[in-house]
Amino acid sequence: DLSAQIANMSVKNLFLNASGIHCQTEQELDELMNEPVSGAMVTKSMTPKSRFGNPLPRYYRLANGSINSMGLPNQGFDYYMDYLKNHDQKKPIIVSVAGMSKEEDLEMLHQLQDNDDYQGLTELNLSCPNVIGKPQMAYDFEAADDLLHEVFSFYKKPLGIKLPPYFDLVHFDMIAEVLNKYPLSHVNTINSVGNGLWIDTNSETVVLKPKGGFGGVGGSMVLPTALANVRGLRQRLNDDIKIIGTGGVTNGRDAFAHILCGAEMVSIGTQLYEEGLQTFERVTRELTDIMEAKGYTSLGDFRGKLKVI
Ligand code: DHB
Repeated sequence: DLSAQIANMSVKNLFLNASGIHCQTEQELDELMNEPVSGAMVTKSMTPKSRFGNPLPRYYRLANGSINSMGLPNQGFDYYMDYLKNHDQKKPIIVSVAGMSKEEDLEMLHQLQDNDDYQGLTELNLSCPNVIGKPQMAYDFEAADDLLHEVFSFYKKPLGIKLPPYFDLVHFDMIAEVLNKYPLSHVNTINSVGNGLWIDTNSETVVLKPKGGFGGVGGSMVLPTALANVRGLRQRLNDDIKIIGTGGVTNGRDAFAHILCGAEMVSIGTQLYEEGLQTFERVTRELTDIMEAKGYTSLGDFRGKLKVI
């Protein structure tokens, strides 16, 4: 039994795509929807109007992960609202919103609140590291608090947030203190490790065009940071704020580790991009095998039960 629940969303399988992977266009969304294993899906983070994003090349595969600086390419809010209205939902879709400003965040959330056809989960992305000239909100605890205060004055549907990685335990304390003030459905942690740099030493050049080569790092090399953030936040957040564990999952063992740290659901980014949709079937089988070998029959048997020594 790999079922999980966040607010009004019940899923038979805990896996979903990480936002940004295979979820920008109607075709990609349809392919995710028809993929038979994953229990839910999330859209590309959207802005009110469509965006091309940053100049190419903007994604580069590394030996043990990836670096990207996409710059929020997306089809725009209305495109995704039309998609939700016009497609059968064989699995729940989480709507990811990432305005270029507080005003854009509020504009999209008002429209979601006022849309009687949409009762699903929304995820407010406070952690895009790749928009030129825009710092990410989640590293400014006061600004994040102000935004959430305003959001929850009118937003009554299930709402979670996407966080960047934190690297200092005091920062875990500080963001948890802010988040615990609000009725969040969930926290999704982590976004990419922001502003890494990769270099081709033969040509002595950067590998990404935007931002002089700086970009968000993902894949197996970020797994320790992801596990620390899932664990550190699970230890600090109210029990009713669920955690979607994201970061560094390439196999069932990595997912098992995320769940031990407290993840309710687990999303897959770089590995899904590199391996394709069959990732879900493989990782699910690997996780099931581990659970069977240990005699676990549900995720609750071990979720959050990491042992210390
Ligand atoms: C992009 C990257 C992110 O990490 C994110 O949260 C949103 C958008 C991007 O570059 O498109």
